[in-house]
Amino acid sequence: MPLQTLGWTVRTMPFLERAQAKYGDMWTMKLAQEGPWVMVSDPDVVKQVFKGDPEVFRAGEGNAILSPLVGHNSVLTLDGSAHMTQRKLMLPPFHGRRMQAYGELMREIAEREIDSWPSGTSMPLWPRMQAITLEIILQAVFGLDEGPRLDALRSRLRDVLAASTAPVTMLLLAMLGTRRFEGLKVVRRELDPADELLFEQIRERREDPDLDKRSDILSMLLSARYEDGRPMSDAELRDELVTLLVAGHETTATSLAWTMERLVRHPGALERLTDEVAAGEDEYMDAVVKETLRLRPVLPVVVRRLARDAEVGGRLLPAGVAVAPCIHLVHRRPDVYPEPSRYRPERFLEQPAGTYTWIPFGGGVRRCLGASFALFEMKQVLTAMISRIEPSATTSTPERVTRRAITMNPGDGGRVTVRRRTTAPEPVPAAA
Ligand code: HEM
Repeated sequence: MPLQTLGWTVRTMPFLERAQAKYGDMWTMKLAQEGPWVMVSDPDVVKQVFKGDPEVFRAGEGNAILSPLVGHNSVLTLDGSAHMTQRKLMLPPFHGRRMQAYGELMREIAEREIDSWPSGTSMPLWPRMQAITLEIILQAVFGLDEGPRLDALRSRLRDVLAASTAPVTMLLLAMLGTRRFEGLKVVRRELDPADELLFEQIRERREDPDLDKRSDILSMLLSARYEDGRPMSDAELRDELVTLLVAGHETTATSLAWTMERLVRHPGALERLTDEVAAGEDEYMDAVVKETLRLRPVLPVVVRRLARDAEVGGRLLPAGVAVAPCIHLVHRRPDVYPEPSRYRPERFLEQPAGTYTWIPFGGGVRRCLGASFALFEMKQVLTAMISRIEPSATTSTPERVTRRAITMNPGDGGRVTVRRRTTAPEPVPAAA
């Protein structure tokens, strides 16, 4: 067990690959402090898990560790009918077609950040991508306009997010459990001032006579009604805003840093993308983003804990066991992706991404609520970068995949040399 815990924690991807080579598409991992996890990587079994009864295949329980931060009304930590009630209310603002409304704001935020970078220097992109994705959430999701409240919340939430992944936090949480941890004075001192600002924002928006003209997600959640006609309470809104921040900020920043890390080591792909951006098209961009999320998924697995005994992949598994569709292993299947380790965005021009074979956003009734938002945001930020800078690699070796809390990050932060473009990329003739 200590060896498995070490492999899973320190060298996650090679550990998963070795285990699959030895045991196949369904095997059990035993971690210290955890019950058994049954890893599955056969797309048919992944489909069975994603389509399984949500009262049996529970995801919220596994996220309970987040509850001191995201609260007890969060779509991330609820299960069963309480989860569905909350999710139904939150889905419409995240519908794919609605994303267009945020395009201009996302590009402006990205361009302002990119224009502040010194030309000709090498830097890790990850912290810069975090600054961009935080700002986008504050403005497009929380609906904050430029001003003192935006400044105050930005700085408060940065502190809260940094504290939430600090090793001492993890240790205290493990020792005390979530209920006792969230009552600690030191925790309240960190969270309360941020909550106060969030409640101010919620109350002010609720009274805004122009609420229905606003396109930010908070305004839409304020107008939404549960099936019994009730609006969301301030406490529910606060919990969902923090949920969207926690689920959507670092994940998207990390995926953006990986996209650049991959592109600068594949000059052919970078060149094709640059030509396409100049021509104002986005087919190859879509393929680039999908291929990056295939080979560098931010989360290597998603987890469902069984509330009752259940048959999975032809085996009877007991209640309490966690079943984990393994994103990393599904994405490396040679029968679905020939030459699976090769970075080749073209494969997504040749065949569409499959519901149960391309799963960076999980699946079923727990599939990432922000998937369309994240894909759209990544494309806006990448377009802004490609049109303003010429990025190049600082080393030819790929950056190592390293774990940061639960996400898989580029070991050197996605380091690139940034050179400002003096002219816009040349538009390519239509025939080219
Ligand atoms: C590239 C960026 C992102 C990745 C890779 C990602 C990935 C994921 C994954 C794997 C899950 C779990 C799905 C499952 O258990 O089946 C998830 C859930 C979730 N994500 Fe994302 N996510 C990203 C961005 C975002 C953004 C931008 C938002 C919102 C602004 C967001 C909001 C959520 C929420 C609310 C859930 C919980 C859904 C539920 O339990 O019903 N995510 N995400």
